[in-house]
Amino acid sequence: MKLFLDTANIDEIRHGVEMGVVAGVTTNPSLAASEGVCDLLAYGDAVRQITEIVQGPVSAEVFSNDAASMIDQGRIIATWAGNVVVKLPSTADGFKAMAVLSREGIPINQTLCFSANQALLGVQAGAAYVSPFVGRIDDTGTDGMSLVRDIVDIFSKQNIAVKVLAASLRHPLHVVQAAKIGAHYATIPYKVLLQMMKHPLTDAGVVKFEQDLIAVTGNR
Ligand code: E4P
Repeated sequence: MKLFLDTANIDEIRHGVEMGVVAGVTTNPSLAASEGVCDLLAYGDAVRQITEIVQGPVSAEVFSNDAASMIDQGRIIATWAGNVVVKLPSTADGFKAMAVLSREGIPINQTLCFSANQALLGVQAGAAYVSPFVGRIDDTGTDGMSLVRDIVDIFSKQNIAVKVLAASLRHPLHVVQAAKIGAHYATIPYKVLLQMMKHPLTDAGVVKFEQDLIAVTGNR
């Protein structure tokens, strides 16, 4: 399972890539807005900057909800860089846009997926990735990870090549669960990436090794 960063923050992306642990990026209008980006032109500049840092897939979401506008925007987004993936919602208009854009060879990330049925429809419409939203389902008091499990099972039994991208992940345990289930990708906030690498025994071990060396060599 490869890790994507779920952010539009350049410093976070640069740090993740420098550590060699980030294979791609996902963004959405909320994440863009949190970086002060609120129109498609500025979003294009931000996404282009991200694609210069990350070699893997960078998902950029359309800013509208009707099929015609999504198709227009998807065609524009696809020109921003060779590794851009267009994110479209799991709605009737979204599926229509997926069908048109995927036929043009534009890779699609089906977003806002909350059911296995929506995932199956995305497959028919030509999505390359499907993003089940784990945390938002958990927020309703239901187990979001079971949706990832269902989609992975169905795709495996049906020999479906669409990649499962576990999204809306909120903590390190989500990442481990998604990996055990067999998701192909997990997209995580920067905070979760930092939590994943943190362990008190690692920190204590680093301090102890340094102290032991100083004790023997007498200097730093
Ligand atoms: C990524 O593709 C999604 O847009 C993102 O993971 C949603 O996360 P959230 O539910 O924490 O906003």
